[in-house]
Amino acid sequence: MVFSDSQSAMTLMADISVVAVIEIPTLEHALPLAEILSAVDGIALEVTLRTEAACEAIRLIRKNYPQTIVGAGTVLGANELIKVEDAGAQFAISPGATPALYEAARNSRCPLIPGVATASEIMLGLSHGYDFFKFFPAESAGGVKTLRSFAGPFSSVKFIPTGGVTLDNAPTYLSLHNVVAVGGSWMVPSEAVKSADWPQIQALVQHCATL
Ligand code: 3PG
Repeated sequence: MVFSDSQSAMTLMADISVVAVIEIPTLEHALPLAEILSAVDGIALEVTLRTEAACEAIRLIRKNYPQTIVGAGTVLGANELIKVEDAGAQFAISPGATPALYEAARNSRCPLIPGVATASEIMLGLSHGYDFFKFFPAESAGGVKTLRSFAGPFSSVKFIPTGGVTLDNAPTYLSLHNVVAVGGSWMVPSEAVKSADWPQIQALVQHCATL
């Protein structure tokens, strides 16, 4: 039995190869960033709940870029899930998962992509009916080797590795059959976002088109 959240999230990610993990300092940064990211096919946005502006930024981007897939990241608990659903997030990603978060997701229309780093965490997710996870922190948790090992016992499980992914190692991750897309902030460095260095971000985002 696969919980509908995993199916919905998988469908959303069908044409996505990169999930851009973004920290939006103020609402003014939201639309210029969205414009750059939505210009390249195959990129979804994960707006992290690490700034005050995050939920309003999700709402604004959804309204202005309806074609772009926009979700919320750093969704740690039930309250956050309710807030991002209300803001119009199309998916919610968490770095890990708790029984409370799984329970909250049952009552939410916003599909959850729970975070896992170990076999036991995958088994817990499977017991809640999920088979599509964020693998975090990917590089510190063994990266490509760990994902290859997961493919044995968890042959039907799919992942979005995130954490330490770069333009250089992304192709290896994407070549694995259990990887749907890679996540990362390498194309939206927080200093460049804060200083509104749009040309630098545009150049980094352009490289994602090669993935
Ligand atoms: C996340 O929250 O998914 C990570 O902070 C992204 O990791 P990265 O900055 O190493 O890409």
